[in-house]
Order: sequence, then C-alpha cells, then structure tokens
Amino acid sequence: MTRNDIPGSGRNAVEVRGLVKHYGETKALDGVDLDVREGTVLGVLGPNGAGKTTLVRVLSTLIRPDAGSARVAGYDVVSQPRQLRRVIGLTGQYASVDEKLSGTENLYMIGRLLDLSRKDARRRAAEMLERFSLTEAAKRPAMQYSGGMRRRLDLAASMIGLPSVLYLDEPTTGLDPRTRNEVWEEVRRMVSEGVTVLLTTQYMEEAEQLADELTVIDRGRVIAGGGVDELKAKVGGRTLQIRPADPAELPRMVGAVAQAGLDGIAGATADAAEGVVNVPIVSDEQLTAVIGLLGERGFAIAGISTHLPSLDEVFLAVTGQKTSDSTAPQDRTDELQEVAA
Ligand SMILES: Nc1ncnc2c1ncn2[C@@H]1O[C@H](COP(=O)(O)OP(=O)(O)OP(=O)(O)O)[C@@H](O)[C@H]1O
Ligand SMILES: [Mg+2]
Repeated sequence: MTRNDIPGSGRNAVEVRGLVKHYGETKALDGVDLDVREGTVLGVLGPNGAGKTTLVRVLSTLIRPDAGSARVAGYDVVSQPRQLRRVIGLTGQYASVDEKLSGTENLYMIGRLLDLSRKDARRRAAEMLERFSLTEAAKRPAMQYSGGMRRRLDLAASMIGLPSVLYLDEPTTGLDPRTRNEVWEEVRRMVSEGVTVLLTTQYMEEAEQLADELTVIDRGRVIAGGGVDELKAKVGGRTLQIRPADPAELPRMVGAVAQAGLDGIAGATADAAEGVVNVPIVSDEQLTAVIGLLGERGFAIAGISTHLPSLDEVFLAVTGQKTSDSTAPQDRTDELQEVAA
C-alpha cells in the first residue's frame, strides 16, 4: 500500500456536491458542497448538531446519502465503497479502541482487518505505537490509558492502513491543552507527509492552528467558507490601529481622521488605555490614505497594526450563535465593540 496523492498538486482529494442526508424531519445534511485539495487540511466548523459527524460518516461509506454525490481520491462513496475504504483513515468522535485489548492487540487487529499479513500487521502495529509514543504502554489494556493516550491510539489506528485521506472528527474535544497540542503536532506531521485531512471541530483555535481552508456548517448547510483570513475578512474588514509617539496626541489624531472625509472611512476612536487610535477599514487603499494623511499632518507615529476579527466573531456573525469555545463571553463582547467602534 502506498499513498497515491501528490501534496499541493491542486487536485481535490475530496469532492462533495449537493450532499443530502435526512433523518426523518431532521436535515442532518441539506445540500452540502465542499472540496479538500490534496495535501491540505480542511476544517469543518460547526456547533453541536450541525451535521459534521454525518458528513464524516457519508465520506467513510458508513451511511449512504439520500442525494448528491461525494468522491474521495476519485472513488464514489455509493458505487465504489470498497476502493474508497482502502484510501481513508478515520478517527471517530468517540474513541473506537477496544478497552479490553492492549495497544498492540488493538492495532494488530485493525491491520488484520485491513488484510495485512500477520507479520505485516505486527510490524505496522509496532511502528505506529513507536511513532505515537505508546511503546511503553503497548502491552497494557486500553482501559488503563489516559484520555490523551487513547486519542493517540485512535490516531495510530487510523494510520495503520497508510491512508491518503484522513478524517478526524473532533479529535481534541475533551482533551487538556497540553494533550491537545500533542495531537495537533501529530496532525501536522501527518500533513507534512502528504496526508489530506478533513477535520471537524467546534474550536476556532483548532481550525486556526491546523486548517488551510475552512467550511462553516450549521443545520446541515454550508454557511461560509474560504481561507482562514478570507473568512475573517468577510465579517467586515479590519481595524487599523495607530500608536502616536506621544499619547497626548490621541484626540488630535482622531479629529484629523474624522475631518479629512476620506473615502469610506466613517471615523476613528481613541483607546486611551492602549494609547492607540482605532480606524475601521475595508481596503488597503484606505489604510494607505489614513497613514498618508497622518504623515502630511506631521504626526509622529510609533506603531501601526491591523487586526482581523477572531474566528469566534466570524462564527457569531455568520450563524448568530456563540461557539462552544471557552472564551469568556465578556471578553468577546469587548472585542466586538472594539471592532465595531
Ligand atoms: N442516526 C441518527 N438518527 C436520527 N438523527 C440523527 C442521527 N444521527 C444524527 N442525527 C441528527 O442529525 C443532526 C446532525 O447530527 P451530527 O451528529 O452530524 O452533528 P454534529 O455536527 O456531529 O454534532 P456534534 O458536534 O454534537 O458531534 C442532529 O440533529 C442529530 O440529532
Ligand atoms: Mg459529531
């Protein structure tokens, strides 16, 4: 078994068109379109019940869609399930290891299920245990593993068949920050080796850390998509932050921007605590115009920066819902007011 994809080749490893899956009245997937380019990570972001696991199940051939199409590595989920299963790996939302079996036994069993010979299954199991730092725990039953060790065993299990496309369904939900970082490191390593990843998550930070592109889904529908920065910019531009060398200049600076009547610039506000002037902008031209104006007026500027809205704000803006992220609501409100100021 070898990987047949070429990282960054620009081809799509996953192509989903008009995918529909209904459970009675529930529209778990209600016409989903998405692509994952080979060698990249697509983050599928959505709240509880958005349809993330349903999507992963259809793409793994575990359930059949009601309508639409999906191809993975060129194989159709409905008409070529056997070929498709050979190229994918899946780390499900809920740990799928057998509690009573040891790490080695779990991985050996999966290797055998994937038609590896006894010898190859043993070898692959040992390799994966080593790679995911589980060699010492290899002989212990999985029920004695910590949450992080279980997740690593899950990842190891999904890599036994050397998949070219890997699905990770909320891989770090419930993990502590340190263990979460370890999982992220492993995912990055797999991606650097050419694996294409479709990752579902409820964590903005996770998407920002791992994903090249994002698709935001809610109630079975794609509500936004694009690059991480692109998506942030969609929510409504950026804030230009200018720091005068002399904080006493803040009011005069605000006045200068407000009175200049620059195209599309509604105004500016002073943040005395931070010692900066905030100007909402939507284009690079506006950025240049503001800086140019302040230069002409002879202001001494100590620093300039622009800030995109956070992914939490993106989510709030496109779904009208808060995410389950741990960010304190109060902080979020403050950030939003700053962006809206
Ligand atoms: N087997 C099923 N039978 C009936 N309804 C289902 C089934 N599986 C999922 N659903 C419903 O479909 C919708 C989407 O569920 P899904 O599990 O795909 O969401 P999710 O985005 O993975 O959520 P979470 O973040 O909680 O894991 C939900 O309303 C869910 O209740
Ligand atoms: Mg789910």
